[in-house]
Amino acid sequence: MLSGKARAYTNIALIKYWGKENEELILPMNNSLSLTLDAFYTETEVIFSDSFTDDLFYLDHELQTEAATKKISRFLDLVRIQANTNKRAKVISHNFVPTAAGLASSASGLAALAGACNEALGLELDKQALSRLARRGSGSACRSIFGGFVEWEKGHDDQTSYAQQIPSNGFEDELAMVFVLINDQQKDVSSRDGMRRTVETSHFYQGWLDSVETDLMELKQAIAEKSFQTVGEVMERNGLKMHGTTLAANPPFTYWSPDSLKAMQAVRELRASGIPCYFTMDAGPNVKVLVEKKNQTAVQAKFIELFSRQQVILAHAGQGITIIE
Ligand code: ADP
Ligand code: DP6
Ligand code: CO
Repeated sequence: MLSGKARAYTNIALIKYWGKENEELILPMNNSLSLTLDAFYTETEVIFSDSFTDDLFYLDHELQTEAATKKISRFLDLVRIQANTNKRAKVISHNFVPTAAGLASSASGLAALAGACNEALGLELDKQALSRLARRGSGSACRSIFGGFVEWEKGHDDQTSYAQQIPSNGFEDELAMVFVLINDQQKDVSSRDGMRRTVETSHFYQGWLDSVETDLMELKQAIAEKSFQTVGEVMERNGLKMHGTTLAANPPFTYWSPDSLKAMQAVRELRASGIPCYFTMDAGPNVKVLVEKKNQTAVQAKFIELFSRQQVILAHAGQGITIIE
């Protein structure tokens, strides 16, 4: 019996990954850049044994459906090839993040699974190889291997597509992200389906590709200069552009809800009142607000007043994947 256990934190992209160049290998159309956070994470244990006849997947104490387990099995197959083993596995995972709600559970979930498999089978993958492996489970997961600011270099094949931490001189430690939980239930359109539909049908998708590289360059420059305002402005407009592409897909769709708009408006009001803060959203209705730590309390207070205390979660920069003994 071979076992391993790992914890990985979620990450939120400031420059979004939106669209695959290669679905099978999960190679993205564009580079993305994220911040790993400390408030949401996954812990996963995996046990490989000759005595198991099938892969089993438990999430939050519940045995998962055949369809959900199949996704995990496909990932485990990649691991089995690397380890040259046929052993089936039992995966026991706990999400300290709502699952499939646009809060990046696939990032922490698949990064934790990759880390646990690496440990269990003694693969001794370094961070770069682990990032590549996690990428095969969910693109955004390749970034959760690392803490702080992380860039996923899109690359051009399996070898060259991986994430790495970007030097920031500790800038991330000055920042906070306030999560406004608008809906923590499972979304209707998964990230995978949403980006596929957008790439295949959206007339705005080319516009997304045309500007994302410039956004990325500006953001990296702003991180290097520790310019909070520019980081925030670039992040906010990049996120809005990503969401714009879904409106021109066929059939069109949006991840926004009325409360998402209410939260965005509150961010603009905060700015007008002299508190610099900026929003971004992923594939779900929840809104994430980037703010300097010195202003986090004012931002939290505004959202608690508008929504409720339970709907507002404060996060700071988090660390990369860790092995749990
Ligand atoms: P999210 O916004 O939460 O990342 P996605 O649509 O990208 O939503 O991904 C949700 C999917 O990620 C789930 O349906 C499941 O397949 C996978 N996932 C989430 N958490 C875990 C976990 N702990 N272990 C394995 N897979 C997970
Ligand atoms: C909007 O990594 O969840 O959150 O690779 O298909 O598993 P798959 O998708 P996923 O997509 C994340 C999309 C996003 C933007 C981002 O995190 O960069
Ligand atoms: Co995801």
